[in-house]
Amino acid sequence: MPRLFTAIELPPAARAAVAGRQAAFARERHDPDLRLTPTSQLHLTLVFLGEIDERRVRAITEAMSLDLPLDPFDVAFGGLGLFPVRGPARVLWLGLERGAASVSRVFELVRSRLEQHGVPRENRPFVPHLTLGRCRERSRSLRPALPETGTVAEMRVTTITLYQSRLVQAGAEHTALAHARLTGAGAPVH
Ligand code: 2AM
Repeated sequence: MPRLFTAIELPPAARAAVAGRQAAFARERHDPDLRLTPTSQLHLTLVFLGEIDERRVRAITEAMSLDLPLDPFDVAFGGLGLFPVRGPARVLWLGLERGAASVSRVFELVRSRLEQHGVPRENRPFVPHLTLGRCRERSRSLRPALPETGTVAEMRVTTITLYQSRLVQAGAEHTALAHARLTGAGAPVH
C-alpha cells in the first residue's frame, strides 16, 4: 500500500542553507550513529497519512490538488532540537524561528481536509520541525548543549505537497503526487 504524507517542500536556496548547517553540525559532533537526512529529502512534514489503500489514493490526490484558503506566509528556520525531549535522542531537528503559527494553521486545514477523506487524526501534538537526522541507537552524545544556529534559512510557503514515500535500496524515495496552492484567506473552502 502506498505510504503518503503531506509536507512543505524547501526551495533550492533554503535546502542548500539547511544542508550546510546540517553538515556543519555533523562535523562538530561526529556521532557515528547519526544518519543525516539526504539533502533532496529535507522537508517539513505536516500530516502523515501512513499506508493508504490503493483505491483511496486517487481521491486523496485530487483533494490535495485543490487550493487551500490561506495566504502564502513566510517562515524562518533556526534553533536545533531533539526528539524525544528528554533522555537519549532519536531525532535531530531544526525548528522555526518565525511562522510556526501559520504552519500550524495550514496543518489544521490539511488535517481537516484529509479527515473528510477518512484519514484519522493522529493523537500526538503537532510540533513543526525539519528532521536533519536520525540516530540508529538512541544517542547520548547529541544531548549536551546544542549549538546556537541563528537564522539558518528563510522561505515563503506558497504550496503544500502530497508525497508518496517508497522504500528503495538506498533508503526512502519521495515522489510528489499533488500540490495544493495557498490562494488566500478569502478563497472558497473545499
Ligand atoms: P519527520 O521526519 O518530520 O518526523 C516521511 O516518512 C515523513 O513522515 C518523515 O519525514 C516523518 O516526518 C514522517 N513520519 C514517518 N513516520 C511517521 C509516523 N509513524 N508517524 C508520523 N509521522 C511519520
